[in-house]
Amino acid sequence: MSKLFIYYSLSGNGDVVADEYKKNRYDIVKITTKKQMPKSFFGCIMKGGLLAGLGKKAALNDYNKDISAYEEVVVEFPIWNGKPACAANTLMSDIDFSSKKLTFVLCSGGGEAPKTEAKLKEKYSCNVLHLKDPKKNPDELKKLLF
Ligand SMILES: Cc1cc2nc3c(=O)[nH]c(=O)nc-3n(C[C@H](O)[C@H](O)[C@H](O)COP(=O)(O)O)c2cc1C
Repeated sequence: MSKLFIYYSLSGNGDVVADEYKKNRYDIVKITTKKQMPKSFFGCIMKGGLLAGLGKKAALNDYNKDISAYEEVVVEFPIWNGKPACAANTLMSDIDFSSKKLTFVLCSGGGEAPKTEAKLKEKYSCNVLHLKDPKKNPDELKKLLF
């Protein structure tokens, strides 16, 4: 069965998760934003948190939106201000994931983002996994379902 892991990562936690899926023979697509986030941690939290809190999208660099070859898709993104990062909002409006065997992996610093999980489960038939900063907590990767 062909399997895709598609993700956005600002600070590398998503990349650690992608490595695990790659080992398990998933094709990997990383989406990136056209605009950089502010360099300072404070600026990043302020801008990203505000925009994500408002449910805003971010313009993405070109990526392959054709997922017709895949039966299973895993979508991964970080939680910003309790909500999907802006790049994830764009991804979920660009691609219709609804016909796929679908899992969301949400990376966060600590919170479980229950509202985001509820919204995803309202829109899709899907599994939702929560990982707390797996780059510094590698044990979190044991939550992944292979
Ligand atoms: C703008 C911004 C907002 C964030 N908001 C939250 C939050 O509301 N709750 C939380 O637990 N972590 C929050 N975090 C932490 C990230 O979700 C967490 O570090 C995640 O693992 C980052 O994934 P990445 O390294 O793949 O970008 C935030 C990080 C940023 C940059």
